[in-house]
Amino acid sequence: MPGLQPTYPLYVANRAEQPNTDLEVTDKFTGEVATRVALADAATIDRGIAAAVAAAPACARMAAYERQAVLAHCVTRFTERKDELAHALCIEAGKPINDSRGEVGRLIDTFRIAAEESVRMTGEVQPLDISPRAKGYMGMWKRVPIGPCSFVSPFNFPLNLAAHKIAPALAVGCPFVMKPASRTPLGAIIIGEVLAETDLPLGAFSILPAHRDGADLFTTDDRLKLLSFTGSPDVGWALKAKAGKKKVVLELGGNAAVIIDKDADLDDAAARTVFGAFYQSGQSCIGVQRIIVHASVYDAFKAKLVALTAKLIAGNPSNEKTFIGPMIDVKEAARLDGWIQGATAAGATLLCGGTRDGAMLEATLLEGVPRSTDLYREEAFGPVAFFSKFEDFDAALDEVNDSKFGLQAGVFTRDLFNMMKAWDKLEVGGVVINDVPSYRVDNMPYGGVKDSGLGREGVRFAMEDMTEIRNLVIRRRDSD
Ligand code: SIN
Repeated sequence: MPGLQPTYPLYVANRAEQPNTDLEVTDKFTGEVATRVALADAATIDRGIAAAVAAAPACARMAAYERQAVLAHCVTRFTERKDELAHALCIEAGKPINDSRGEVGRLIDTFRIAAEESVRMTGEVQPLDISPRAKGYMGMWKRVPIGPCSFVSPFNFPLNLAAHKIAPALAVGCPFVMKPASRTPLGAIIIGEVLAETDLPLGAFSILPAHRDGADLFTTDDRLKLLSFTGSPDVGWALKAKAGKKKVVLELGGNAAVIIDKDADLDDAAARTVFGAFYQSGQSCIGVQRIIVHASVYDAFKAKLVALTAKLIAGNPSNEKTFIGPMIDVKEAARLDGWIQGATAAGATLLCGGTRDGAMLEATLLEGVPRSTDLYREEAFGPVAFFSKFEDFDAALDEVNDSKFGLQAGVFTRDLFNMMKAWDKLEVGGVVINDVPSYRVDNMPYGGVKDSGLGREGVRFAMEDMTEIRNLVIRRRDSD
């Protein structure tokens, strides 16, 4: 297994620079410093932005096959370096090695989808002669790159959520500056290393680890035409308020729910729900937090889920058998531990788990969690989920909607009528039938409503955001 390098550079205007080694990246399981990364100061971020502005015309002029070749190169190189990438994720994010390999697979999918989409950007010819004043006129529109983009990516999928910004930008011909999460910068830096092997126009990309105050420059600078942020709702909405005239895309959090209807296959639903609630220690915006079960199968389903959860193997994420690794840091684990205790103090019953050792929080299930608690209302973003019971399917849908968030929801049912009702009524960006809300394929539209965000990712949808429609009107003189 290729190990980590002792230091990693930042990338400014396509080139590696190592001005310092100020950012310590820890192994999230041992807590020890695993490697050191260059940290960008304000002047370096400014250089990256200026280079992106200068590169915008050359990026926009790239032919579709040239953009596709860059993306195809990335697919090849990520495939060749997949073990190294999975190892880096496992160390920097504490992500169990099997989940890390899964994320590398998704990274490759995301770039492959972008390579395919890059040659499919089409427009439309539109007849305009809808009334006498427009006789002889026709229109057509095409998409043009929006210009220099600003990307801020999160710690929980250091590779694939960076890829969901970078790959569409390359596909449409937008230069960009990216601030990866400072706790997990390695994934984005290795993407930078691979991009530096290509002949992208100089200035097309800068990958600039920076502390949180540095994020302001990625947000406020008017030279940047789009801000795409993935991370916590509080930070995301605060950045939007400072973003000025630029277009803003926000992929934020949620407290996703799954409904287990009376006719669900309980063994299958329990296996999938365990995965959805606890994979990568629940640190996914679409991790299952609320499990809403029909009264007639409640006890049976609960027993299955508790039994499966109790069997999950926790520990060192490098171990092949580990399912539950550490949370990103002790502070986050202590915060969620406090929410569990707050819920039990308010009357909830602990069904399994509930103990914490540093950043390791056990997979925890509860029932009877009062609506007034943080655990009910806020985003847990950790290995905790709780049950509630319903009698009437409409009441279950109302309960899913009883949240300030709306990212994805899952419904296990065999009833076509209930499936369609869920699709119609759930206030979310996506409904997943017979699987958990945590299910995502990288070409599907992905994003939320309410506090969960603005806009959609999923390559083609991000490409739309990263382009503007430019219309052409033609007055035909031969119709005189
Ligand atoms: C997220 O946490 O928002 C992304 C989830 C995923 O891509 O699976």
